Amino acid sequence: MNINKIHIFLKLVIIIIKNINSFYELKKIKKRILGKSSYLYINIKKIKFLKKDKKIIFGKLINRSINIIKKNIFLKEKYIKNKFIKKNKKKIFFDVSLQGKKSLKGSIHPISSSISKIENFFYNIGFNIITGYEIEDKYHNFTALNIPKHHPSRNLQDTFWINKNILLRTQTSNVQIHIMKNKNLPIKIISIGKVYRNDNDIKHTPMFHQIEGLIINKKINFSNLKWIIKNFLKNFFNSDISIRFRSSYFPFTVPSAEVDIKEKNGKWLEILGCGMVHPNVLKNMKIDYKKYIGCAFGIGIERLTMLKYGILDLRYFFENNLSFLNKFK
Ligand code: DAH
Repeated sequence: MNINKIHIFLKLVIIIIKNINSFYELKKIKKRILGKSSYLYINIKKIKFLKKDKKIIFGKLINRSINIIKKNIFLKEKYIKNKFIKKNKKKIFFDVSLQGKKSLKGSIHPISSSISKIENFFYNIGFNIITGYEIEDKYHNFTALNIPKHHPSRNLQDTFWINKNILLRTQTSNVQIHIMKNKNLPIKIISIGKVYRNDNDIKHTPMFHQIEGLIINKKINFSNLKWIIKNFLKNFFNSDISIRFRSSYFPFTVPSAEVDIKEKNGKWLEILGCGMVHPNVLKNMKIDYKKYIGCAFGIGIERLTMLKYGILDLRYFFENNLSFLNKFK
């Protein structure tokens, strides 16, 4: 072991570090100078064979050298970083020699992808897409839709009331009233949005999505409505599914029907309501019900999406559980 050689080594190393210009080079040099097969490390191993007084001299010298090297490397790191930041002031600092961070990739929520598929279908057959109000008054949510004051359907829908008159809409059918009020006839619209009911179990959540469809024109009949619904469902499920129209009752349509879909287990599941717009609704909106006829439909989007993917509990959609959501990537 030679004191001079170690001094020369240290001087050389300092010069080398001084000339380095990137993190990558610095990392490489650091390994060579301070790694297990480096010159200094090999000398450390030799110390134990020296006499006691030399042991102290060499031990101190090597320790000091290591500290000086480490400090030089640290300062150099700082220098390179600052230089890059200054150079790329407005750009984000990016050192290609650093290891990359794996970023998590998001995906479209199943309800959102159903909504875009539905919107595409209706847009392509000439429907306009409009938005409606989620905070609504009694008149638009019930009264104008021919739901009388004491009619049981008001009680059936467990409503979130804000005050005596204002509520969170229980159905997207309120959009029908707003659009008819404009009297821009004919009408051919769909509206997709959130609705609220005080329900919570495997087939209900307090908030869910509906799509409302409305056509008002001079020549329109129930078979037009049937064609639209049949083809919509065929398009949505990408297959020939079995559906049935079952006669039903809604205060704002006459005749009214509900549509059921046959599940894999052979059971029928109700997915939508539809019908011909009730003349009273047209009268309320001062539309000449002798000239104009309307048909309408309302569909639950969560129900459709559950059926499509075989999801058993509707609440999964809104729990932000990544292992559930990742299945839709
Ligand atoms: N609004 C109804 C509901 O929430 C669904 C509905 C049924 C909408 C028949 C319609 C319709 O437009 O014609 O249960």
